[in-house]
Amino acid sequence: MLFSALFAAPLGVSAIPSSRYDREPPNWSNEQQTMTPEFWHARWQNGELGWHLEEINGHLRTFWPTLGLPADTLVFVPLCGKTLDLLWLTSQKQRVIGIEISEIAVRDFFAEHGLTPEVTKFGALERWQAGELTILRGDFFDLTATDLTEVGAVYDCASLIALPKDLRARYAEHLKSIVPSKALCLLITFAYDQEKMSGPPFAVLSDEIAALYADRYRIEDLATFDAINDLPTLRDRGLSTLSKTIWHLQPLTSNQAIAGEKQTN
Ligand SMILES: C[S@@+](CC[C@H](N)C(=O)[O-])C[C@H]1O[C@@H](n2cnc3c(N)ncnc32)[C@H](O)[C@@H]1O
Repeated sequence: MLFSALFAAPLGVSAIPSSRYDREPPNWSNEQQTMTPEFWHARWQNGELGWHLEEINGHLRTFWPTLGLPADTLVFVPLCGKTLDLLWLTSQKQRVIGIEISEIAVRDFFAEHGLTPEVTKFGALERWQAGELTILRGDFFDLTATDLTEVGAVYDCASLIALPKDLRARYAEHLKSIVPSKALCLLITFAYDQEKMSGPPFAVLSDEIAALYADRYRIEDLATFDAINDLPTLRDRGLSTLSKTIWHLQPLTSNQAIAGEKQTN
């Protein structure tokens, strides 16, 4: 399903009786929007997972193969939740490393897929590993570059857009500081009038993506879709239009990056 919802009940899933996914999204107060770890722990504790899809993201299926990555590429999935996309990526012969702060999410992910992970300490984090799939349990902001030296690609779905603006800037800076400069990124964002609805999901417009990432990547819009009809709960929260964009962030060569710096100085 190409236009599946990220933060609303996905089409098809609402048919599951008593599913937590058919609940209305709760009211997110301004305070909650600081998106502290406690905020996310409470979401997992209460099963309020409006973003979670019980299927593979259709955009991932469509666009990942166009990136032309070699088999065995290590793919980093920040703020991964328990997305099924992790499994799909391993089915494409990629190695995967996610990071997720919630122990409930990580435990549920492995249990729901009948996987028995080996759990070891990994600095300030825990490393849960089953075959080619690893989830680091802990805070994204505790990751360092030495933890991710082998990463060749990043898949950002419902991660950047889960964060309010100040935290997005911090997130993007940290991401750039921990993933190797050669790693490309597939990024999915929403654009809508932020005045009409408070996030999450937050609107992240093309100007902001350029401000966050143009120093490091050539930014290509692979596709933009009108997505409001696929997100009925966001319509109920006040939106009448919303678009979804799939971005390919291609690493700049060092010469391109230097040329960009000279232009801005
Ligand atoms: C909106 S959900 C998206 C999950 C996943 N990307 C998906 O598409 O299903 C955001 C996730 O980020 C996790 N998270 C939030 N802050 C984090 C942090 N600082 N470090 C690691 N995970 C974090 C939350 O627990 C939550 O599972």
